[in-house]
Amino acid sequence: MEARNRNDAGTHANDPHASVVTILRAAGCVFAEEEARLLVAAARSPDELAAMADRRAAGFPLEHVIGWAEFCGLRIAVDPGVFVPRRRSEFLARQAIALARPGTVAVDLCCGSGALGAALAAAVRPIELHAADVDPAAVQCARRNVAPYGGRVYEGDLYEPLPAALRGRVGIVIANAPYVPSEAIALMPPEARLHEALVALDGGTDGLDVQRRVAAEAPRWLAEGGHLLVETGERQAPQTADLFARCGLLPRVARSDDWDATVVIGTLRKAQESG
Ligand SMILES: C[S@@+](CC[C@H](N)C(=O)[O-])C[C@H]1O[C@@H](n2cnc3c(N)ncnc32)[C@H](O)[C@@H]1O
Repeated sequence: MEARNRNDAGTHANDPHASVVTILRAAGCVFAEEEARLLVAAARSPDELAAMADRRAAGFPLEHVIGWAEFCGLRIAVDPGVFVPRRRSEFLARQAIALARPGTVAVDLCCGSGALGAALAAAVRPIELHAADVDPAAVQCARRNVAPYGGRVYEGDLYEPLPAALRGRVGIVIANAPYVPSEAIALMPPEARLHEALVALDGGTDGLDVQRRVAAEAPRWLAEGGHLLVETGERQAPQTADLFARCGLLPRVARSDDWDATVVIGTLRKAQESG
């Protein structure tokens, strides 16, 4: 396949874009024209372009090949193996942006590349941004993406690596935690299944294992009136809302058919409201 691709590329020796389109089309890429344009722009030499086209044709996610993804109008660095921020998660970012105010203390849990925190910090200035992830590759990547906003990134399990001084002060926790049921991982597209870490995808038997833990600890970190926002599946949303309620959060489900995205927002009641 690689040799054939290189021969095809040779038939358009003076037109790198056309060469790459040929390679991508042969590999079955649906958006070959657009992807070829991005690969040509990203490559620093003809050899690098050929290598990038081969990697894409072999099934690596485009974002891992070019090293970035567009998210809420930002260019987010995405290193190999790190979860590629999905377009649908822009809906989660927009929900958080609507609730944040200048000065908000925000935590992006399960931050991956840090795309959600960066989008929030870019839209509402200034905020105090903290992010955390268990995967060292994600942490390194997120550090680069949130640095322009003064964000800090910690490595560890959920809230465990956050500074204790944040307890009771957080206005917004965003968590796009893994929510794919374990059995459904095998049905995911190969780009995700083969090139993103299992820990980024697998939400346990019903997909809600990590969300359950995120919600259980949220009241310890949220300020009164603070919000926990998680992305979830449309069919999982009632269960997500229920587990929020069991943890003392007032749940609300937000759904966008345009984004095909569902977000559950849980608010920690103020002391005078809970009695
Ligand atoms: C679905 S990805 C989302 C990444 C990012 N928030 C986004 O939307 O692009 C889930 C992320 O959760 C992280 N993760 C999974 N379990 C975790 C845990 N127990 N503690 C911290 N991070 C975790 C994974 O490493 C992965 O980066």
